Amino acid sequence: MLSRLKGFQGQNGHGRFRLNGHCATSAATDHIIQVRQVVKTYHGSAGDFTALKGINLTVNRGEFVAIIGKSGCGKSTLINMITGIDRPSSGEVWVNGTAVHTLSEGEIAQWRGRELGVIFQFFQLLPTLTVMQNVMLPMDFCHTYPIPQRRERAMHLLDMVGLADVAHKLPSSVSGGQQQLAAIARALANDPPILAADEPTGNLDSATAEIIFQLFNQLVDEGKTILMVTHDPDKARRVTRVVTIADGEIIKSNSTAESAEVAEKNLPSHSPSRGEGNGLLLPLGGD
Ligand SMILES: Nc1ncnc2c1ncn2[C@@H]1O[C@H](COP(=O)(O)OP(=O)(O)OP(=O)(O)O)[C@@H](O)[C@H]1O
Ligand SMILES: [Mg+2]
Repeated sequence: MLSRLKGFQGQNGHGRFRLNGHCATSAATDHIIQVRQVVKTYHGSAGDFTALKGINLTVNRGEFVAIIGKSGCGKSTLINMITGIDRPSSGEVWVNGTAVHTLSEGEIAQWRGRELGVIFQFFQLLPTLTVMQNVMLPMDFCHTYPIPQRRERAMHLLDMVGLADVAHKLPSSVSGGQQQLAAIARALANDPPILAADEPTGNLDSATAEIIFQLFNQLVDEGKTILMVTHDPDKARRVTRVVTIADGEIIKSNSTAESAEVAEKNLPSHSPSRGEGNGLLLPLGGD
């Protein structure tokens, strides 16, 4: 059933929408993400707190990277630097040839809409729009596809993640797993080269989490680059690289061969994997 995802990419092609003046080169480098000496200091009433202490991270095109570490170590802060949701206090963030740290707020929103699909733990679908309208939103915002194609593309994406039947329902009337699949369809709407997910399975049961994880694996096979913050030891063992953060610093970055060993040491004890072989289109409980 996963094979139904094949051909999900749109016609726009990667890189066609980069903003003028911020594109280092039209030929995208294999280093699709480069975080250079990034420091992030929060200024609060209780004083300053430095959540990232000079992070350097390079992600190659096509990698599936898990970011792990204890609560409060800086995982979300790092993801937010890469997605442009927040800005570094110092240092540089380059994503697919764009110097994200130099973009204005308005530029960042457009850039993110085209270059990055962002997936959150609590889905963040707009509650008053149907599932399909949520998936159409990025296309409406960035004008990436002609208006007549947007509805068709949204339905195509929903069909591929097994949600065609609930396309016209409101998010509140489908299950959490279905909401996350809809959020992934929305993240894919503009065919971005990168997906960034902050604990995407953190609020889901293990069988549904497995479906989401298999979907991510399929997307990596199709050419996407994925960064995924996770607390799930089983998932972190099955990516191409594990980046371990502690106290605002990357303390390990291990590729496939070593990642199982690293995950073993840095995450809670292994629970037997469940749902192996589940298809994407397994019915997820909804109303
Ligand atoms: N807006 C903020 N103002 C002040 N401190 C913040 C802010 N956001 C995060 N922090 C602090 O920065 C540190 C890193 O936070 P972050 O959310 O990145 O951690 P995390 O690794 O994602 O944790 P979790 O696994 O619990 O999601 C924490 O100590 C947090 O309290
Ligand atoms: Mg977090």
